[in-house]
Amino acid sequence: MSRRRTISGRTVVITGAASGIGRALAQRLSSHSCPVAIADVDETGLKETEAGLSGPVLTRVLDVRDAEDQRAFAGEVRAWAPQPIGAVFNNAGVAVSSSVLDAVPEDDNWLWDINFHGVVNGTRAFLPTLVEQGEGVVVNTSSVFGLVGMPNQSAYCSAKFAVRGFTDSLRQELRGTGVTAVNVHPGGINTNIVRNARFRKDPEGRGRTHDQMAEEFAAITMTQPDKAAEIIHRGVEAGKARVLIGPDAYAFDMLARIAPTRYYDVLGWAQSRLRGRAEAQAAR
Ligand SMILES: NC(=O)c1ccc[n+]([C@@H]2O[C@H](COP(=O)([O-])OP(=O)(O)OC[C@H]3O[C@@H](n4cnc5c(N)ncnc54)[C@H](O)[C@@H]3O)[C@@H](O)[C@H]2O)c1
Repeated sequence: MSRRRTISGRTVVITGAASGIGRALAQRLSSHSCPVAIADVDETGLKETEAGLSGPVLTRVLDVRDAEDQRAFAGEVRAWAPQPIGAVFNNAGVAVSSSVLDAVPEDDNWLWDINFHGVVNGTRAFLPTLVEQGEGVVVNTSSVFGLVGMPNQSAYCSAKFAVRGFTDSLRQELRGTGVTAVNVHPGGINTNIVRNARFRKDPEGRGRTHDQMAEEFAAITMTQPDKAAEIIHRGVEAGKARVLIGPDAYAFDMLARIAPTRYYDVLGWAQSRLRGRAEAQAAR
């Protein structure tokens, strides 16, 4: 059963806040009277986010892979927070696109360290405070790629499936504590995720450059970051245990349920149609 919760007005913590969904969350929640503690490895982007906020802000350069620094950050937030912590958004993430055959282990490990261990580190760092408060939500960003496996996304999908499993387990453990855990599954959101990805070669053998892949991604995304932030904020406050973002996320979710081993028959077809349309638009 879902239970309504309030985040607006409470302190929130957001990693990956220098760009994309994290920045949009900071903007939205700050405008809903939340003191925001924002963290990222990208100091310049973080300062830009900070400059766009009007309420109380704690800005912290942080690599989510560093468990000890995440604990130090949690201590700093506790000392600073003008209000109890309403939510911790473990949102920072990166992308790699490669076949398993061509995978560069160093790239996959980099992604797993950020996308999975970064989420675990953030959860562990802030959970004692939330449990002590007897309230608060851990909001972990998975993906639609945490619902289905996609070609050339083995590292990303495995990390996002892991986030989903970790967060679901945590939610069951937290019953009766007043604290809960939520999975977020965005579909395509128009952010810098592909531009910020590690790139070696076009995994589909179509000879695209990194820039071309980023442009193609932007053309097929269905949701803007500010809309994603609104859906996350509303979904968490509505008491949802998982938040799907965008029409594509609902389609992925439905296909994974009705055709658990055959979903890519449909998704592969839809993906190539969307790309064809994007290529035609680019050629005009
Ligand atoms: N954009 C999408 O279509 C999409 C879809 C599903 C899930 N997601 C997930 O949403 C989250 C946000 O991504 P986005 O789309 O806003 O991308 P983005 O690239 O615009 O923002 C990600 C932010 O994370 C930061 N970051 C990267 N490594 C970090 C580290 N080690 N420590 C701290 N910060 C770090 C980056 O500097 C960047 O500011 C990610 O977890 C991503 O996997 C995105």
